[in-house]
Amino acid sequence: MTMDADVEAGQAIYTPATLKAYDWFVLGFSNRLLWRCPTGHLRDLYARNVGARHLDIGVGTGYFLDTAPWPAPRPDITLVDLNAHSLAAAARRIARFSPQTVTANCLEPLPVTGGFSSIALGYLLHCLPGSIAGKAVVFDHAAPLLAPDGVLFGATILQGDAPRSAPARALMKFYNKKGVFSNAADTFQDLVFQLESRFADVMTRRIGAVALFEARRPFCASRRNSD
Ligand SMILES: C[S@@+](CC[C@H](N)C(=O)[O-])C[C@H]1O[C@@H](n2cnc3c(N)ncnc32)[C@H](O)[C@@H]1O
Repeated sequence: MTMDADVEAGQAIYTPATLKAYDWFVLGFSNRLLWRCPTGHLRDLYARNVGARHLDIGVGTGYFLDTAPWPAPRPDITLVDLNAHSLAAAARRIARFSPQTVTANCLEPLPVTGGFSSIALGYLLHCLPGSIAGKAVVFDHAAPLLAPDGVLFGATILQGDAPRSAPARALMKFYNKKGVFSNAADTFQDLVFQLESRFADVMTRRIGAVALFEARRPFCASRRNSD
């Protein structure tokens, strides 16, 4: 797989060591004290939206997959990530559900079969290079994979116009310099615009520096088979 250096940088930080620290540093410390969106809001987002056939893109440690109240005893879960360490960590964590794993760059068409009742993009967009308009290609790749009554949901950390404390600004600047985040120009308005251009039913909310979204009824047609 050949890859742009910026795309590579957005996933390179996820090693076995950093993944061990992720839950407490990102989901515990940073969400509450820096981004001002306590993780409970993101758990609620999952709880409201996960379906019996779920696609998770950008899986990290699999924390939300592990804690979600699944609507079926054995949900059919597919994990997509560019990073083998993230995929392995999340798959191990929810081994009880025997998830399928797919190594793929979400900025390219996804090699998975459609018909998902839910698709999650949790804290993925701020890792991707470019503007929100460019990152929104992920919505184009994911939307045709939704079942007709399916939902695409997720969250992303904003920079553009989001209110942030000095420590939050400093850490975000550092992450952007290293390429861990690429959200310098990401605004809530741009995200809403890109979602509303693709889905008939869009709900968004900003909590602290985090945008949460839920989108249904894509304007594009569903794609049940990978082609
Ligand atoms: C910040 S973690 C998010 C983890 C989890 N979804 C959460 O909400 O906490 C971002 C994940 O996206 C993955 N990722 C980054 N760039 C990607 C890309 N271009 N394609 C697929 N996955 C990518 C990373 O490897 C990492 O596992």
